[in-house]
Amino acid sequence: MSVNSIRRGRQAAVRSGPRLALVLTAVGALVVGTMIAFTPSASAGTTLGASAAERGRYFGTAVAANKLSDSVYTTILNREFNSVTAENEMKWDATEPSQNQFNYANADRIVNSARANGQQVRGHALAWHSQQPGWAQNMSGTALRNAMLNHVTQVATYYRGKISAWDVVNEAFADGGGGGRRDSNLQRTGNDWIEAAFRAARAADPGAKLCYNDYNTDGQNAKSNAVYAMVQDFRARGVPIDCVGFQSHFNAQSPVPNDYQANLQRFVNLGVEVQITELDIEGSGTTQANNYARVVSACLAISRCTGITVWGIRDTDSWRASGTPLLFDGSGNKKAAYTSTLNALNSGNPTQPPTTPPTGQPPTTPPTTRPPTTPPPGGAGCSATVSLNSWTGGFVATIRVTAGSSGTTGWAVSLTLPSGAAVTNTWNATASGSSGSVQFRNVSYNGRLNAGQSTEFGFQGTGSATGITPTCTVS
Ligand code: XIL
Repeated sequence: MSVNSIRRGRQAAVRSGPRLALVLTAVGALVVGTMIAFTPSASAGTTLGASAAERGRYFGTAVAANKLSDSVYTTILNREFNSVTAENEMKWDATEPSQNQFNYANADRIVNSARANGQQVRGHALAWHSQQPGWAQNMSGTALRNAMLNHVTQVATYYRGKISAWDVVNEAFADGGGGGRRDSNLQRTGNDWIEAAFRAARAADPGAKLCYNDYNTDGQNAKSNAVYAMVQDFRARGVPIDCVGFQSHFNAQSPVPNDYQANLQRFVNLGVEVQITELDIEGSGTTQANNYARVVSACLAISRCTGITVWGIRDTDSWRASGTPLLFDGSGNKKAAYTSTLNALNSGNPTQPPTTPPTGQPPTTPPTTRPPTTPPPGGAGCSATVSLNSWTGGFVATIRVTAGSSGTTGWAVSLTLPSGAAVTNTWNATASGSSGSVQFRNVSYNGRLNAGQSTEFGFQGTGSATGITPTCTVS
């Protein structure tokens, strides 16, 4: 499907529920008031990523590999964001242009840049009706099902340990009031194609969170109800799904729904994380700024809304450039929407969401949380706790660092891995050593914590990490 037809589909989409103009005006006035009155606290983050990290979340952007040589672009990317999504480079047509011949060159450029800058990577997208290679578009039935499963397995295996969350399936539900699946060659292979894709992804990369991702599901409507029913069913039957992505492409025809937060919350109540995955809001000035603040505040109000990704950096980088929907103008200057977004982040409660344990197999053991081994908040210094997801031969450790009564300007966490265990990948921290005694230091955006504030980093490893005890020191 072309960009324009996607866009046309969205603009034509029927929204459920009336537009509550009066309420919107009142909310808008409130947000403007908040923006004017806002005074950043001493440790309020000065970048999007830093502020999100202080709240245990990420703030990401879509990245295009061919822009990584543009220094205005990379300066903003590496200053502001702690998560990236490949805008096109991990899609089926890009990674498997001929059947069983995989090309990761452009995706790797994005992953390598992210790893060099301490950013986590969202994988987008394994199975989708759009941007399929020609050979897959011409397939059907069992041959297509097997080709899709092979694709999921190969790509998720190749990036195993490097992806925080995969959009395993993208846009599989129909627009409009029907509440059914979208017709596609994948759907015609049988209604169970989605769960088959999730099972293949879990087997290939047990450390990645597995998301279902869609648009026009941002408020409660027939489409989001259908996705909700699927997630509920998957959770009941043990199909491995950890998160739901809400693309959140907004404009005048498809505005931020009034029940945005309530809709996110009902998905969280099913036991999954939610993430804002492709945020862009057409418009300008105060109206656009207020809409961004509404979205960010809604996410921050929900402990398991774990991160926000905007769909590009500058307006000119956007797939909908004419709508100027992003946080930086074409020259890389911060827009009013940037300021309102940062203020909304800084207004959020500086606590962090709990880690979502992946469902299904593995892990084979429930996550364990150990008591702090270093001074708890109240004393000076910092403390660290670990949550482990383990499976045979591997693990993901999530470490929560909490500042003591003096706050931190930097921190280091030390731990000793059991023999045979090794770190293969780290996010939101820099590791020294990979086996035995290992030390993790903060990256640029998460070293500064107020008294009692927390942030999280993680690492994936081979072998077993059972029994590790992190100790935290300020630096
Ligand atoms: C868009 C990209 O931004 C464009 O560059 C490309 O031409 C088309 O796809 N939903 C998604 C994204 O899940 O992958 C789409 O990205 C935007 C809509």
